[in-house]
Amino acid sequence: AKARHFKWEVSNMFWSPDCEEKVLIGINGQFPGPTIRARAGDTIHVELKNALHTEGVVIHWHGIRQIGTPWADGTAAISQCAINPEETFTYRFVVDKPGTYFYHGHYGMQRAAGLYGSLIVDVAEGEEEPFKYDGELNLLLSDWYHESIHTQMVSLSSKPFRWIGEPQSLLINGRGQFNCSLAAAHTQGAKQCGAVNRQCAPVVLPVQPNKTYRLRVASTTSLASLNLAVGNHKLTVVEADGNYVDPFVVDDIDIYSGDSYSVLLTTNQDPSSNYWVSVGVRGRQPKTPPALAVLNYRPNRASKLPSLAPPVTPAWNDYAHSKNFTYRIRARAGTPPPPATADRRIELLNTQNKMDGHIKWSINNVSMVLPATPYLGSLKLGLKSTLTAARPAETFSRAYDVTRPPANPNTTTGDNVYVLRHNTTVDVVLQNANALARDVSEVHPWHLHGHDFWVLGYGDGAYRGDAADVARLNLRDPPLRNTAVIFPYGWTVLRFVADNPGVWAFHCHIEPHLHMGMGVIFAEAVDRVGKVPKEAVSCGATANALMAGDHL
Ligand code: C2O
Ligand code: CU
Repeated sequence: AKARHFKWEVSNMFWSPDCEEKVLIGINGQFPGPTIRARAGDTIHVELKNALHTEGVVIHWHGIRQIGTPWADGTAAISQCAINPEETFTYRFVVDKPGTYFYHGHYGMQRAAGLYGSLIVDVAEGEEEPFKYDGELNLLLSDWYHESIHTQMVSLSSKPFRWIGEPQSLLINGRGQFNCSLAAAHTQGAKQCGAVNRQCAPVVLPVQPNKTYRLRVASTTSLASLNLAVGNHKLTVVEADGNYVDPFVVDDIDIYSGDSYSVLLTTNQDPSSNYWVSVGVRGRQPKTPPALAVLNYRPNRASKLPSLAPPVTPAWNDYAHSKNFTYRIRARAGTPPPPATADRRIELLNTQNKMDGHIKWSINNVSMVLPATPYLGSLKLGLKSTLTAARPAETFSRAYDVTRPPANPNTTTGDNVYVLRHNTTVDVVLQNANALARDVSEVHPWHLHGHDFWVLGYGDGAYRGDAADVARLNLRDPPLRNTAVIFPYGWTVLRFVADNPGVWAFHCHIEPHLHMGMGVIFAEAVDRVGKVPKEAVSCGATANALMAGDHL
């Protein structure tokens, strides 16, 4: 295993991700940030300088479990103090498992401002992937708003509430085209994109005929759930969130914010043509046009327009299609099975609520707010004022009607910290419900830090935990993942083992939803956390305690 060193500087810069010039957050003058490529077992060192001038920053390594290094998880107010302007913080952690990952800002809504990039981990030297391919293509998907994240954050927390609307563009590897289409001939009412600048040039994926390629696809969208299809080509799903899955063949894949997949594609179509890769919106009425990329069969010119129209991704509200895809994801043989039983069950009801005229998302009727002093340091030092007195509820009333708007929409805020005992097995039941408006229930992709979990099952309606619900759970080959969706009006059951001391966020990966409180915290065996580096805790009450002579 190797140590891999990176020196990064995060700064605001002018950029035209969809051909309209805006200010975004880049790394070393690039957008998206540089790709990290490593082998399983390597140690990554990122020396991160904050050159944002007037705001703090942190970076989260999404999908990396940070075993033994919870202070490197990069979550502001949870695992570390935000890095001040002009300061440098070094992230040092081991990438223990091969897979397709990414990194992103985890302070306020900085992810939506463009702070993200790919993190790809190959198998350790001398090992082999359990499938064969001739080449690899990387697709990091995101969505893009023309409004600044500052305006977005103020809108979301203002009274009356101002919804930020749908993103203006979808981006592939940070590139999209606003107000024009690469395939206008096939798109009603669209105008053909003319010459575009390099920052928003179409993404071209060069391939040779009759070969197999591994497409690595990850989504770091702020809001949009996506679907990806490649004209005339089948996709074989082989990896999800850094875990191998039992391979299955599909025409298109759904990909929610926080998900990553590898799919194999064989270039067995007419080699005289190029083909479109199409990325469209799922789960919300799409006001954002699809993103397109060109699968370029060499030696055709990249600029040769595909003869076929771009594949049309399924209708946004075809949930049967989404469930069919999601339910097919099973662990590859050889994946560790879940423990047969759990020590604890935490049920989390997801609702949209009101608080003093503000709109919030709540979990068991409490909307999460983050503290001034990050939990990892304050819990490790045992600082008294850290947690609110009452621990959050572990269940919700069976009388709650998930099919209707909340009868009493009022909610409160709180820390939502669940304290987990070392090595216990925890089941989480995520229950979806109707939002404030009638007949509205959205998809929420929940992401867990510090762990993979087994996805034991899904169901429609209210989870009762009775024999029928339990019979739906899959203990035989549930997939291991770090992100799982709840479908509208449905439930999802996850299981994980609390074997990684630290303080871990568990939240909806939709950036505006997290901003509006949709998350909880798992404080796991914090007494077993090793020595926390001083730079991670030099703020708030932990800084005071350290100055007064306390020891971590
Ligand atoms: Cu990728 Cu807490 O998120
Ligand atoms: Cu959500």
